[in-house]
Amino acid sequence: MGTFYVTTPIYYVNDVPHIGHAYTTTAADVVARFHRQRGEEVFFLTGTDEHGNKVEQAATARGISPREHADQMVGKFKEVARKVDATNDFFIRTTDPEHEAFVQRFVERCRDRGDIFEGSYSGLYCSACEAYYTEENLVDGLCPDHGTEPTFMEEKNYFFRLSAYQEKLAAHYRAHPDFVRPRHRYNEALSFIEQGLDDISISRATLKWGISVPWDESQVIYVWVDALINYLSALHYAPGDDLLQRFWPASYHMMAQDILKFHGIIWPALLMSAGYELPEHLFIHGYLKLGGEKMSKTRGNVMDPFPLIERYGPDPFRFYCFREVNFGQDGMVGEESFKARYNSELANDLGNLLSRSVSMIGKYRDGVVPMPADRAPSGSPLAAEAGRVAVTAGDQLEEMDLSGALDTIWELVRRLNRYVEEQAPWKQAKTGDESALDATLYDLAEGLRLLSVLLYPFMPGTVTVMRERLGLAGAAAGGTSGAAVGQGATAPGWDEAVWGRMPEGVTVVQGGSLFPRIEE
Ligand code: MSP
Repeated sequence: MGTFYVTTPIYYVNDVPHIGHAYTTTAADVVARFHRQRGEEVFFLTGTDEHGNKVEQAATARGISPREHADQMVGKFKEVARKVDATNDFFIRTTDPEHEAFVQRFVERCRDRGDIFEGSYSGLYCSACEAYYTEENLVDGLCPDHGTEPTFMEEKNYFFRLSAYQEKLAAHYRAHPDFVRPRHRYNEALSFIEQGLDDISISRATLKWGISVPWDESQVIYVWVDALINYLSALHYAPGDDLLQRFWPASYHMMAQDILKFHGIIWPALLMSAGYELPEHLFIHGYLKLGGEKMSKTRGNVMDPFPLIERYGPDPFRFYCFREVNFGQDGMVGEESFKARYNSELANDLGNLLSRSVSMIGKYRDGVVPMPADRAPSGSPLAAEAGRVAVTAGDQLEEMDLSGALDTIWELVRRLNRYVEEQAPWKQAKTGDESALDATLYDLAEGLRLLSVLLYPFMPGTVTVMRERLGLAGAAAGGTSGAAVGQGATAPGWDEAVWGRMPEGVTVVQGGSLFPRIEE
C-alpha cells in the first residue's frame, strides 16, 4: 500500500492561535484520516515556527525572553490540534535541537553547491510577513497583507542564488501541472517565476533569535529558510522507522495563499540546491473571513472557535468549516451561520435520521436489524445511489475537494430522509406488510452504516457514536484502515463503503440525540 505525507504550515507563536490555524489543521486531518481509511500509511505533521523578528518582538513586549515566550505559547498550539481532534503523528517545534542541527546541515549543503554568497541588503521589511518589500509592492506605503508600515533595514547578509533556479523551477511547473493546486494558484506562482527571480537574503545580522549560520556565528538563518526545512527535518527525528525513506517527498503541503510564494518558489529551489526531491503537491485553500476581511492576529479581527468547540464538540466545527466555505476559496464565517447549519443539517438531517431509524428498529424489530429476503444490492432502491455517492465522495476527497465530498455525502443523508417519508414504515407496520418493513428498516440501517464510513474523515467522534448505535462498534476494527495508526484506531476502512455489508443479527442501541438543537 502507498504512503501519504501531509503537512500544515508551522504556526508563528507570536500570539495565540485562532480559527485560521484550526482550519488548516482540521483540513489536513480530514485528509490524513481519509488516506488511513484507504489503507495507506500516513504521516501527518504540524507544529510551530518559533524564531524570527516577530516572535522576538512579541517576547520583548512581554518583558520575557523569546524562549520563555515560545515555551508558553506552544502549549496553546498543541491544544488546538487536540481540540479539533487532529491525529497528527508529530508536532515539530523549530527550537527542537534536532531541527536546528538539521537546518545548519541543510544550508551547508546549499553553500557547498555554490548557491550561497555574501552581499548587502537594504529594503523595507514587514516583520508580520517576515519578508522584504519593494516600494511598488506596497499599498499606500503599507504591507498589502497586514496593512502595517514596513521598517527600513540595511545589513550585510548571506544570499541564496534563487535566480539560478528560475529556469529549473519553471520547467518543474510545466512538467507538473498539478504541483500547485487549485489551478489559479499554480498560474499565479508560475507567472511570478516567469517574471524573473531575484536572489534572496537568507540570514540576518541584527537579529539574535534564530539558528546561527554555521560558518558565521554573527548571523542567524532567515526564519523562512529555518521554517520551510521543518517538513524535512521532522522526518529525521520524529519517532518512527525510516520516515525519510518512507515519506519524502511529501504528498501535500497545505496552507492559505499568504505563504504560497515561500512554498511554491523558495522551498523547491532550496530543495533542488540541497539535492532533495520536491514535494508532490501544494494545496492552497482560501481565507476564512470575518466582516469581509482576512482574519489575522496582526489585524486583530479574529473569530474564536474554541468556545464553540467547547460547547458542541469538535465535529460540528469540523463539519461547518468545509460546509460553509468552499474549500479552496475564501469565505465568510460567523457564529450565526454556524448555529443555522448545526440546527438544519446536523440536528435535523443527520441526527434525526439516526434517531428515528434506530428507534423504529427498536419498536418494530426489538432492536435487531432485519435482513430482507432479497439482500442483493439490486433489491434496494437506494443501493445504486449510495454506491455512486461513495465512489464520488472518495474521488473528491482524493482530489482535495473537501466541500464537494461533503455535498455528495449530504445527498445521501437527504435521500435517506426522503426514503423514510416515501416508505412510511409506520404504515407498513400498520398494514402488516412485514417484508416491506424489513426491507425499509434494513435499507435505513445500511444507509447509515455506509454514511458512518464516508463521514469518518470529517466527523470521527460522531461516527463512533453512530456505529455504537447501529450495533457496529465491535465491527469497526474489521476494516482495512490503518487501524494501528494513532487516534485513527476506530476508523472504518473505506472499502466498507459498499452497499450490502451490514453483518447479520446486529442489535441497535437506543440513545439521546446526536446533535441536540441549539435554542436561542
Ligand atoms: N510561520 C509561517 C508558516 C511557516 S510554514 C513553513 C506562518 N505562520 S502563520 O501562523 O501566520 O500561519 C499562516 C497559515 O495559517 C496560513 O497559511 C493558513 O494555513 C492559516 N491561516 C491563518 N489565517 C487564516 C485565515 N484567516 N483563513 C484561513 N487560513 C488561515 O505563516
